[in-house]
Amino acid sequence: MSGHSTYEPKTGVEKWLERRLPIVRLLHDTGVSYPTPRNLNYLWTFGGILTFMLVAQILTGVVLAMHYAANTQVAFNSVELIMRDVNWGWLMRYLHANGASMFFIAVYIHIFRGLYYGSYKEPRELLWILGVIILLVMMGTAFMGYVLPWGQMSFWGATVITNFFTAIPIVGQPIQTLLIGGFAVDNATLNRFFSLHYLLPFVLFGIVILHIWALHVTGQNNPTGVDVKSDKDTVPFTPYATAKDSLALVWFMVFYAWFVFYQPNFLGHPDNYVEANPLVTPAHIVPEWYFLPFYAILRAITFNIGPIDSKLGGVIAMFASIAILAFLPWLDTSKVRSGRYRPMFRIFFAIFAVVTVLLGWLGSRPAEGGYVLAAQICTAYYFAFFVIILPLLGFVETPKERPLSISDAILAKNGGGHGHPAGATAAADKH
Ligand code: HEM
Repeated sequence: MSGHSTYEPKTGVEKWLERRLPIVRLLHDTGVSYPTPRNLNYLWTFGGILTFMLVAQILTGVVLAMHYAANTQVAFNSVELIMRDVNWGWLMRYLHANGASMFFIAVYIHIFRGLYYGSYKEPRELLWILGVIILLVMMGTAFMGYVLPWGQMSFWGATVITNFFTAIPIVGQPIQTLLIGGFAVDNATLNRFFSLHYLLPFVLFGIVILHIWALHVTGQNNPTGVDVKSDKDTVPFTPYATAKDSLALVWFMVFYAWFVFYQPNFLGHPDNYVEANPLVTPAHIVPEWYFLPFYAILRAITFNIGPIDSKLGGVIAMFASIAILAFLPWLDTSKVRSGRYRPMFRIFFAIFAVVTVLLGWLGSRPAEGGYVLAAQICTAYYFAFFVIILPLLGFVETPKERPLSISDAILAKNGGGHGHPAGATAAADKH
């Protein structure tokens, strides 16, 4: 996809294809000869893990859909039937339900890796923005999937979240009616959500292809954040990256399997094993764990801001907390990519990571007393990190000396000899 192709068709079939549809060349250039920075650490294996998870979700989902019935009269029981009567149905369901959580664990690690090493910076802005779009589509897909078993949390979660649309002036009410297909969450809602939940993963697949295409045009970033300068800085994707990615994937699958086989309901909510009942509201309506930080931000806005009432303010804050990521390449003014060489950034970044985990915990608590105040302080820091701290840091921070090249960094680490002295300032390097 990028650079000069080293592929030579050998067999008759390859030569035949090469003149008609050079797909073997494409696969060879992206998965075999693609030059990979030689210093990538295990945090760079999560893109591959995510691709695996997307495929796993689609495969298990397609099988589940063969037995699931999207009708409020029977949906709950059809899921119980899958669990008890369909051969391997329990496995498909537990793989799919826990797979959603694994997908989010992997995507959050993937995003935090990008944040720390400055992978969103020039020239990878579009690659990053495609990632933000992927995140939004993933969230929509997961939210609608959770409604399908038609348990208490499915129903009440859908009711609470779709109700937030009504906070938007003028168009809010019609949007909500269109989304749920009536005036309350009911059969039409379930049908719409099932249809979209089936469709969106394929849309995701398409965006992921663009994401990886963009990656192969710019090339991968690496832990030093210094650009690839010569062939000495890279190794071929196969066998090096394929071997490392495969090992990480096996470990990840062990972790995933542990949940599926030993704690299949740990990440879910017990109320979702009670059939949906519009007449009984659960004591606490909480979303899945991966939405909790955003849920905390939504509920942190308990006050009116000028003409914006608290409900609309919460909705705006929640959407802004994700949308702001798309502007990050321009909000971060530092010329240095990797957090490794940014002493002040590292401190603020560590606080940011703690704050997001705290927000997650606060999202699981009832919205009262000290919890609300704590969520407000964390929300303030969350936004300040993007709109105040990162723009200012670029001007006030003195970065540490960076190696001239990736191979210099490796030689320095291994106590190796020749080349430039370790830590020589990358004066000629524009990043
Ligand atoms: C379905 C979800 C996703 C899939 C399958 C996926 C796939 C990949 C793959 C295969 C890579 C290359 C390997 C690696 O660097 O780990 C990659 C890199 C990257 N991804 Fe994703 N990704 C996903 C979601 C996201 C999201 C949500 C973001 C950010 C909001 C993002 C941002 C990036 C960036 C910036 C890189 C380049 C990293 C670097 O070279 O340092 N990705 N992605």
